[in-house]
Amino acid sequence: MKTTLVFASEAEVSSFLIEKWNKLGLDAIEDRGRFTVALSGGKSPLGFYKSLAKSKWLHWDKTYVFLADERFVPFSDINSNYRVIKESLLDKAGIPPENIFPIEIKETPELSAKNYSQRIKDFWELEEGRSPDIDLILLGIGQDGHTASLFPETKALGEKKSPAASVELPPIKNKRITLTLPVLNHARNIIFLVLGTAKAEIVKNTLANCNRSIPASLVNPVNGEVLFLLDTASASLLHSLPTFNSFCP
Ligand code: 6PG
Repeated sequence: MKTTLVFASEAEVSSFLIEKWNKLGLDAIEDRGRFTVALSGGKSPLGFYKSLAKSKWLHWDKTYVFLADERFVPFSDINSNYRVIKESLLDKAGIPPENIFPIEIKETPELSAKNYSQRIKDFWELEEGRSPDIDLILLGIGQDGHTASLFPETKALGEKKSPAASVELPPIKNKRITLTLPVLNHARNIIFLVLGTAKAEIVKNTLANCNRSIPASLVNPVNGEVLFLLDTASASLLHSLPTFNSFCP
């Protein structure tokens, strides 16, 4: 099922998301003894991460944090997603270090992706070709429609077997590692957090069309729920849509 919610401010989105985190987390812990999440980088979730660190979520010992994607840079780099998530959330939340699964940067992006795939397979005790059922994956959308580090027209979009893949973005020689579509589409819950006027056009296109050139449109979990959390700015072009319902089958 897919739901779109629009909020008046970033603070309201964060409060809603904290409540949602609590509900999903408690349910997961009650049912399966642990709460598994994969978090994204980018600017939009920063306010949420900071608020969550200060919130009354008490179950960090049963919460396991993975990353949705990472840039091929050391953790000390200002562009490292792990660094951003660590500084805004993990350092302040008191989560046991063994519950954190950053995407470790190895000699090449390919090796880093292979290593992360193995860590995921080991954690979920996956048989070959199976995907984990992550309780919550928090995603953003780039202006070009990328989500996690699944960019338009990149090979990683076609990865069917490995949980993680390397990504090369030729124009800027930017290299990344990302969770793959089978993982996103096997999640129990996907939450897209998309803020700001610059995202209005891509939000409209993602929600309006089954457009295979928009990676975010390809996120359509087999059994999971998809929630779009928008602010009034990113939702500003949605009024012209009759329905918001088209994911790619
Ligand atoms: C990253 C991401 C990426 C991000 C979008 C949206 O590493 O940048 O994980 O997919 O979520 O680019 O970014 P903003 O939240 O900054 O708009």
